[in-house]
Formats: sequence, structure tokens, C-alpha cells
Amino acid sequence: MKFLTNLFFPETKEIRKQSGGLPPLRQSRRGIEIKSPGEIEIMRQSSKIVAKVLKEISEIVEPGMTTADVDTYVEKRIREMGATPSFKGYHGYPASICICLNNEVVHGIPSKKKVIRSGDILKVDTGAFQQGFHGDSCITVAVGKVTEKAEGLMRVAEESLYQGIEQVKAGNCLLDIAGAIEDHVKANGYSVVEDFTGHGVGRNLHELPCVFNFRTNKLPNVKLRAGMTLAIEPILNAGSKHTRTLRDRWTVVTVDNALSAQFEHTVLVTENGYEILTDRSLV
Ligand code: MF3
Ligand code: CO
Repeated sequence: MKFLTNLFFPETKEIRKQSGGLPPLRQSRRGIEIKSPGEIEIMRQSSKIVAKVLKEISEIVEPGMTTADVDTYVEKRIREMGATPSFKGYHGYPASICICLNNEVVHGIPSKKKVIRSGDILKVDTGAFQQGFHGDSCITVAVGKVTEKAEGLMRVAEESLYQGIEQVKAGNCLLDIAGAIEDHVKANGYSVVEDFTGHGVGRNLHELPCVFNFRTNKLPNVKLRAGMTLAIEPILNAGSKHTRTLRDRWTVVTVDNALSAQFEHTVLVTENGYEILTDRSLV
């Protein structure tokens, strides 16, 4: 989600309008929804579909496939499992996945012309929507044999997501998550992308709060409460943290063309900790 913009929250305004200007039921502090047990159960199902399809992708991606092939597969599987792809049509986005190769940072559009090669690192990000709720997750996979450098970046990207998740529990704050991620990334000599953040997720793909991955005082340091559902999604670059957007107006790349990696989970805040709703080891 783009840092510091309201662009991705039209749905929140829509809900306000529908409820006569009043915040809808269960919208609580700072517009952040607390999900009910029933809603959480639905989010478990949406997230499980995402986990399943990403697990399958990690097993079947091979050199020679195009990024459009991956999109076709994901859309088909999401629909077979009774959900719809969250990304398709979202702000005009044309596909069911965002798929990024190597130096691409985020929001890569699948293409029949983009062939996946051995040695590539490939980010696949997708969401599933059913019974009114979304799940959202992203993985980075190594295609064939990749360099040690690429492997290191991917490993630290996944570790940093888990370091962030370890901080999730009622009473902790967003800065606890951000600090843990930033420290782990920097200790390993990589940079954290600051132009994009994680987000709340639920009835809408992108909800408040902005779940930032680095220390900042420009975004609200929200206190976590049981029933919040967060998409935590640090993006790590091997070189500069800075990014630029290509002329297709979606694909974001690193300014120095260095590698980029990302992992994302939809996570439920509980009284004593967390539940990773998009956990692939459970599907
Ligand atoms: N998981 C992506 C994110 O949170 C969602 C991409 S939105 C789309 O940034 F419009 F590109 F689909
Ligand atoms: Co997301």
C-alpha cells in the first residue's frame, strides 16, 4: 500500500456514507475495525485459500512459465476454492496477482511476454475474498538456482516478517512491529522500502491502520487490540531503499536495479499474541 495516501481507502469513506456519516458498528479507535469471532472465522477461510494457492505456486513455478501463466493459475484456483481474487479490478488493477521479478519492488502486472528464468527471484502477492472478507499474503520464491546474495535477501525478508509478527499482541504498538523489522533488516545490511506499508485487512483489502516497517513519527503508532487483523508486509532491497514507478503506472522498481524481496501475512491480534491466518504450513 502506498505510504501516506488516502487513495487506497475509498471504501472506508463509502462505509461512512452508507451509515449516514456515523462510523459503522465495531469501527473503533482511529477507524480501525475490531473483528467479531464470526468475522474472524470467515477471515480464516479467506486467508486459508490464499495460503493454499501460494503454497501451490511455490511448488509449481519453473523456468519457461510466463508471469501471466502464474496469474491464470492463481485466479483459477481461487475461484475453484469458492472465492474471488481481491486484486482484480481494485483501483483498476487488471490481474489477480502482483508478480515481481528481481529488481521489481511491488505491483508488477502479469504479462505473457515476461518469461520466468532460472536464477530469478519471484514475488507473488495475492488476495482472496469470500463471505465479505479478504485475506492477503505474499511470498518470494527462488526459481532454479539463485545467487547466494539473492538467497540471503529472501531469507532475511522472511525472517524480518516473523520478527515483526513476534511483536504482535494486544497492548503492543505498531512501532514495536516496525522497530523489530527495521533492526533485523539493517543488522543484515539490507534496506527497508519506505514508500509502501502494510495495512489493516478485512471487509476491505486495505483498511486502517498503515502498518509501517520502519521507525517513523509520520504515521499513527496505534496500540494493538485483540480482533484487529493486519497485513504485515516488509519489502527489503539489497541496495537503496528508494523506488520509482514505471510508465505502466503500476510496476515499481528499485532505483539502482538491485534485488528486492517481500513476504506478507494476514495476522490476527489476540490477547496473548497472534494467529497467522495465511500460514502455509497449516494447509
Ligand atoms: N498486497 C498488495 C498491497 O497490499 C495489494 C496490491 S493492490 C493491487 O500492496 F491493486 F495492486 F491489486
Ligand atoms: Co497487502
